[in-house]
Amino acid sequence: MELSNSSFFFLLFLLLLLSPIPSFTRAFDVPTLSFNEGYTHLFGDGNLVRSSDGKSVRLLLDRYTGSGFISSGLYNHGLFSASIKLPSNYTAGIVVAFYTSNGDVFEKTHDELDFEFLGNIEGKEWKVQTNVYGNGSVSRGREERYLLGFDPSKEFHRYSILWTAKNIIFYIDEVPIREVVRSGAMGGDYPSKPMSLYATIWDGSTWATSGGRYKVDYSYAPFVSEFTDLVLHGCSVDPIQQTPSTGKCHDVSTANYATLTPERRLTMNNFRHNYMIYSYCYDILRYPVPPPECVVFPSEKRRFRDSGHLKFGRHRHHHHSKGHSRTTSSNNQAVTGM
Ligand SMILES: *[C@@H]1O[C@H](CO)[C@@H](O)[C@H](O)[C@H]1NC(C)=O
Ligand SMILES: *[C@@H]1O[C@H](CO)[C@@H](O)[C@H](O)[C@H]1NC(C)=O
Repeated sequence: MELSNSSFFFLLFLLLLLSPIPSFTRAFDVPTLSFNEGYTHLFGDGNLVRSSDGKSVRLLLDRYTGSGFISSGLYNHGLFSASIKLPSNYTAGIVVAFYTSNGDVFEKTHDELDFEFLGNIEGKEWKVQTNVYGNGSVSRGREERYLLGFDPSKEFHRYSILWTAKNIIFYIDEVPIREVVRSGAMGGDYPSKPMSLYATIWDGSTWATSGGRYKVDYSYAPFVSEFTDLVLHGCSVDPIQQTPSTGKCHDVSTANYATLTPERRLTMNNFRHNYMIYSYCYDILRYPVPPPECVVFPSEKRRFRDSGHLKFGRHRHHHHSKGHSRTTSSNNQAVTGM
């Protein structure tokens, strides 16, 4: 049977209308939580604002303070996800971070998986960074930076961190943008202790936008980021004994989103080809020998400088190679040169 385009779209439309999917995220088919069900206020007094239905939360930065929240529980593996809308207009120097960490529990040997939005100047392209630290390896940053290809301050997009015993996948909407596969050679650098989920907004004037060239301008304050469709889907553990809390352990390693099918891998490679602008794997000034999990594609490597930054030519924008990176842990302000 052949369907004309219009009847196909009409049927699709009907299906969408009829599907009862209100409290599940469409992308991964996992339940969403209200703020009170899964999270608590971390810092910034009046700058965390809950929506009246309790399902969304705003984090504000003004000249007095940023703000943040943390999951009430610790998770040993899971899918951590939120739809996020970033502050608009002039946001240079502002860092919005969405990350997992256990820095409050394991100060010296913490693990961390990051999404960090690095502020923007209206009209330029937004950049996001992902990073991975294991067992306190803050001197071995594993940063990658990408352009987003859309304006994340205009509408909500979903950002997800999948962490299993075997791999880590960062997703933007349904697009996998990075996978780290655990290898024996990574040793303790692969995150392996239970983590909490954090979301924060703070002043990163010294490094965030073009390596600190553009500072926060508080005449545009307050800067407002919004979080909704909150997901904590994993194995909730007892913080003291680190054993699974009864009834709340979901094994995400067998979930559909934990595997990169050939189709997903193609989508990921396309994203990376089009949007990745820095990779620690190609930064031979920093890592003469790329860390063990790096998969170096010669054809891709040729597009990057020895500093790990994309060579000019492909993209319209300019980026500057004076960036610094640092961990987002509130208790760890280490700055590592790039
Ligand atoms: C950006 O902020 C400036 C100063 O507050 C304002 O004049 C301008 O209209 C804003 N632009 C947008 C797109 O909101
Ligand atoms: C993590 O670091 C601590 C302290 O440096 C070390 O004793 C431990 O063996 C490391 N764990 C792993 C799995 O490498």
